[in-house]
Amino acid sequence: MRTIGALLLAGGLCAAATACADKANAPRALAQADDGQGLALIERHGCAACHAIPGVRWPKGRTGGDLAGVGARPMIAGRLPNQPAVMTAFVRDAPALLPDTGMPPMPLTDAEARDVAAYLYTLDDE
Ligand code: HEC
Repeated sequence: MRTIGALLLAGGLCAAATACADKANAPRALAQADDGQGLALIERHGCAACHAIPGVRWPKGRTGGDLAGVGARPMIAGRLPNQPAVMTAFVRDAPALLPDTGMPPMPLTDAEARDVAAYLYTLDDE
């Protein structure tokens, strides 16, 4: 019991600290998501026009930065905690979270955004 309590406490602290990658929660929070479908959506929606993305051969855009390793970074766009729900919201409508961002809103449903986020969490090493 004491171990479980310590884990819950650690989880709470992790959620409170903005610079904490919450990878431990990723599979559970995105349980219904399909990362293979996410890659297909990423290709169809042209994310690679602005981003180099492992798994997408072409194009390799540069305006948005390389997404290699994005799943393991502590922050999204340097300013948001890298947690599954935040990533899902960000890929769908980044300006709703960061009004001054250069990342445009993308025409994804919430379920599609979850699939996209699931794929991004497979990109967990540089
Ligand atoms: C028109 C160019 C453009 C397109 C298209 C685009 N992005 Fe972005 N993206 C950006 C820019 C610019 C940023 C940097 C935002 C910032 O720092 O505020 C960004 C940031 C991001 C980040 C955060 C990266 C990090 O290092 O933390 C992710 C994740 C992301 N984009 C995913 C996607 C996905 C997935 C798609 C397709 C559904 C997509 N982007 C389409 C321009 C784009």
